Amino acid sequence: MTSQVDFDPESPRDERSSDTAASGSTVAAAEGNDDDTTDRAAGEPPAAGSPATIHIPVMQREVVAAMDARPGAVLVDGTLGGGGHTRMLAPLVLPGGQVIAVDRDASAVARTLETVRDLPVQAFAANYADIPEVLEHCGIPLVDGILLDLGLSSDQLADRERGFSYQSDGELDLRFDTSTGQPAWLLVQKLSEVHLADLIYQYGEERLSRRIARRIVAERQRVPIRSALQLATLVRQCVPRSKNHSIDPATRTFQALRIAVNEELKWLEVALRRLPACLKPGGKLVIISFHSLEDRLVKNAFRDDPRLDVVTRKPLRPLDDEIDENFRARSSRLRVAQRNDRAADDIYVR
Ligand SMILES: C[S@@+](CC[C@H](N)C(=O)[O-])C[C@H]1O[C@@H](n2cnc3c(N)ncnc32)[C@H](O)[C@@H]1O
Repeated sequence: MTSQVDFDPESPRDERSSDTAASGSTVAAAEGNDDDTTDRAAGEPPAAGSPATIHIPVMQREVVAAMDARPGAVLVDGTLGGGGHTRMLAPLVLPGGQVIAVDRDASAVARTLETVRDLPVQAFAANYADIPEVLEHCGIPLVDGILLDLGLSSDQLADRERGFSYQSDGELDLRFDTSTGQPAWLLVQKLSEVHLADLIYQYGEERLSRRIARRIVAERQRVPIRSALQLATLVRQCVPRSKNHSIDPATRTFQALRIAVNEELKWLEVALRRLPACLKPGGKLVIISFHSLEDRLVKNAFRDDPRLDVVTRKPLRPLDDEIDENFRARSSRLRVAQRNDRAADDIYVR
């Protein structure tokens, strides 16, 4: 029942989709980590070709309730990651429903595909902003719900080759999709001091951005900054540790570079404009964000879009028991909007 293609929005109706026989579906649960918790980074990423994930999906109860998963429903998971949310939702839409899942990280899609064998899931390597084209490719006009769980997964964080972990001496890449854009080390190498400082301030909300940028520029004249560990070490020399030591001083700088290389806010804005047009009347758009820059965009778009009714006036937050079990969940905020039938899609360019 499971299939995957690398999705190319330029050729939405190509014939590359094929049913894939996938192997078993073990999920090794371990403490999850996100942007600011690399001090607690999980040891090893799941081995290539292994179905395992160390990512613990956040706000599971809330997601199931908000997505209104029921037999026959067609749902979209726009951020498949380790597949935790998809594996929760897919059995609930049987019989008759399905989950269409996408992720920009083709390696995550390939690995997770193994774990959704025997579930009604089609998975695609694609940007969530291209969900309209993915649905067109699948021959699905409108869906009952779309979930976006923003940011990065614990699997990506634990992959030492990609630079998401501040401990890693792998290359400082930070891209979800390494086939496009520029690695973060290149930005660190070529941006002017002012530009670097602005970027770290704007996307990391780091008030010591000027000091960090000055330090980076001085260091790169001495030696190229290529690894995550090199950068984290520099930043730690500029930013005092938080009082309870729970947050690494490099957190905000890494967040800023990651947002920049993946153009995360741009794609979120595009998705917020395009995705309501994919929903049936009554269909839900459910978005989990992890920092205020994302949450503000979601809040304002939900409020201002005449096609949507806001379901959650205030964002839902994880309960204490979840935070105790999964530290990464502590900064998650879930917002829900519902498609109404009062406004037409042609007020927006898709
Ligand atoms: C927090 S993880 C999702 C975890 C997933 N919900 C689970 O339960 O395992 C976020 C995922 O979103 C993906 N992602 C980030 N930006 C994306 C985009 N614009 N389009 C598609 N996927 C994206 C990342 O590659 C990452 O795998």
